[in-house]
Amino acid sequence: MSDKELVARRAAAQVEAGMLIGLGTGSTANCFIAELARRQREENLELMTVASSVISAIKARQHGLPVTAIENVGRLELYVDGADEVAPDLTVLKGRGADLVREKLLARGSDRFLVMVDRSKLVARIGERFPIPVEVMPFAWQLVKQRLEALGGSGDLRPNAAGDGLAVTSHGSLVLDMHFAPDMNCTELDTALNDTPGVVEHGIFRGLTSAVLIAADGQIEERYP
Ligand code: A5P
Repeated sequence: MSDKELVARRAAAQVEAGMLIGLGTGSTANCFIAELARRQREENLELMTVASSVISAIKARQHGLPVTAIENVGRLELYVDGADEVAPDLTVLKGRGADLVREKLLARGSDRFLVMVDRSKLVARIGERFPIPVEVMPFAWQLVKQRLEALGGSGDLRPNAAGDGLAVTSHGSLVLDMHFAPDMNCTELDTALNDTPGVVEHGIFRGLTSAVLIAADGQIEERYP
């Protein structure tokens, strides 16, 4: 069993009958979807899911999981997702995919937000390995970029996968991938991004994590804030 499958199994073990569970996006979240479906099948577990992306909704249905639309959800018990970086205070960076809005909605709207990673995702500071994704309204990108540059950032609009155009999120927005200096204060940056008109959402998930499950060499470490 791979580390991703192992951590997904540990996360899925926390699911109880009757729960509404948020499904994340990415390769680790895919392992969780498969494991959750196995539990549902083998244990006849009654549950409902809501997906953070179209691709995760499709995968969940392919595995036989029931999926409700996010429009129907007011509160959920558990949201389980991967992350791109995890800082020592368990702030996580997300959004390498194109579904930041739903991901943060589910993280904020859930009683518990469980993050599954392997050791490679642990960093000393947010932004150490990946730029910080900032989802912007298409007409606002220049004004937002200038404000972020004034805050010490540098970066540009994310290109699409083919490299012949711009990446467009599932929300219809553009993404600025921004780098900041190593001494950037993550709390201040989070506040500034929340306070920037034209920013739809950004990849810093601060104060939202209930637990992080870290897989390394067949073992799992659990960290709590
Ligand atoms: C999706 O937008 C991201 O936030 C993912 O959660 C992240 O990229 C983790 O993906 P992996 O599990 O594939 O590393």
